[in-house]
Amino acid sequence: MRTLMPIYGTRPEAIKMAPIVAALQESPDFECVVTVTGQHRHMLDQVNELFEIVPDHDLNIIQPRQSLTGIMTRTLEGLDKLFSEHKPDAVIVQGDTTTSTAGAIAAFYHGIPVIHVEAGLRSGNLYSPFPEEANRKITSQITALHLAPTSESKSNLLAEGIPEKDIVVTGNTVIDALFTTVGKQVPFSDPALQELADAGRRILLVTTHRRENQGEAMRGVGRALARIAEAEPDLTIVLPAHKNPVVREAVLPFIEKFPNVVVTEPLAYGEFTRMLALADVVLTDSGGVQEEAPSLGKPVLVMRENTERPEAVHAGTVLLIGTDEDRIVSEVNALLHNQEHYDSMAHAVNPYGDGQAAARTLAAIQALFGTGERLPDFDPTATPLAAEAGTNG
Ligand code: UD1
Ligand code: UDP
Repeated sequence: MRTLMPIYGTRPEAIKMAPIVAALQESPDFECVVTVTGQHRHMLDQVNELFEIVPDHDLNIIQPRQSLTGIMTRTLEGLDKLFSEHKPDAVIVQGDTTTSTAGAIAAFYHGIPVIHVEAGLRSGNLYSPFPEEANRKITSQITALHLAPTSESKSNLLAEGIPEKDIVVTGNTVIDALFTTVGKQVPFSDPALQELADAGRRILLVTTHRRENQGEAMRGVGRALARIAEAEPDLTIVLPAHKNPVVREAVLPFIEKFPNVVVTEPLAYGEFTRMLALADVVLTDSGGVQEEAPSLGKPVLVMRENTERPEAVHAGTVLLIGTDEDRIVSEVNALLHNQEHYDSMAHAVNPYGDGQAAARTLAAIQALFGTGERLPDFDPTATPLAAEAGTNG
């Protein structure tokens, strides 16, 4: 039996790795040794608890207001020790966080093959998102098996000279996680959210955290939200605040006084996806939320200048609006008051996955070790829609 070590450390990696961990644990071919860095703590543990994953190793590296160098060095040192004791047959890393790239580098230094989940996303700008674009390019250079979520991400890898035989198009495992979670109607732990769900008011769901938006751009987001809250008394703005104090200090002072703004702690994934299904409009700079909301037929305004996830932009359900305060106000206003515009963006599309990404991932890893065969690549034209599966909040 081969030993595989999924390594992850933040909320989105945990959500996207959970379906793979479940598939590996059911497979007789592999022993699955889950290793977390603890780059996030509360937001990571929240996901592991929901998916009932108990890590085998936890490096617990988090520090308040941690630096990129700190995350990188503590992860490299922790994994170096771990790999000296336990040498897995391969590691699995996900996405573009510093945990992910540090995990890939540590494995590479020990001669351990790297399997990269969500490979091939590219914004084309090394500094945006920062440091994720560089992280994912570095990881691609030292990866043995590239699991690209879409054919566009595969094309990006081919254009960089990655051999086609080493790439499989799986779909994104976030859609597997979404499909298993979103229909469950979990109760909201925050009474304000339960009241909101019962009242049936219009909802603007907001998340923000990107490092390159921190500072003045994020204060602009706060000012824009204040203007929207004041102008739209019939709308409720829901902001599950990221744990990062830098984010909270920038945004919350502008909005906390409004009765139609609900700021919460990070929501457990089941609660968040239920809120996503209830929301009328989504305003975000999150990668994962950009992938999930289109499946639910929700218009998404993305507060970034570019995206490595162009598929839903092309499908017309995601609009890139940047972080200019006036633009945020006017784009939200257009979606709230122009029904034709709203309808043109609010159709469900699934360019990112069909709920079978973990099965394709498992099959691709079995093929790598000669114990099975790959499944056919993900085809977005033949996918079920979450919105058709009874997910109306
Ligand atoms: C990280 C990733 C980013 C990903 C995001 C998902 C990097 C460089 N950044 O950014 O790619 O999109 O996670 O959310 O890998 N904190 C807590 N508890 C938590 C989580 C965070 O207290 O559970 C606080 C800590 O003070 C920490 C700070 O937030 O120092 C920032 O966390 P960090 O992981 O460095 O950056 P993120 O912005 O979360
Ligand atoms: N999410 C969550 N609770 C929240 C906010 C987001 O579970 O309060 C989920 C969301 O559904 C998505 C993921 O967290 O799957 C996105 O994480 P984040 O925005 O932190 O990181 P990114 O995707 O931008 O890397």
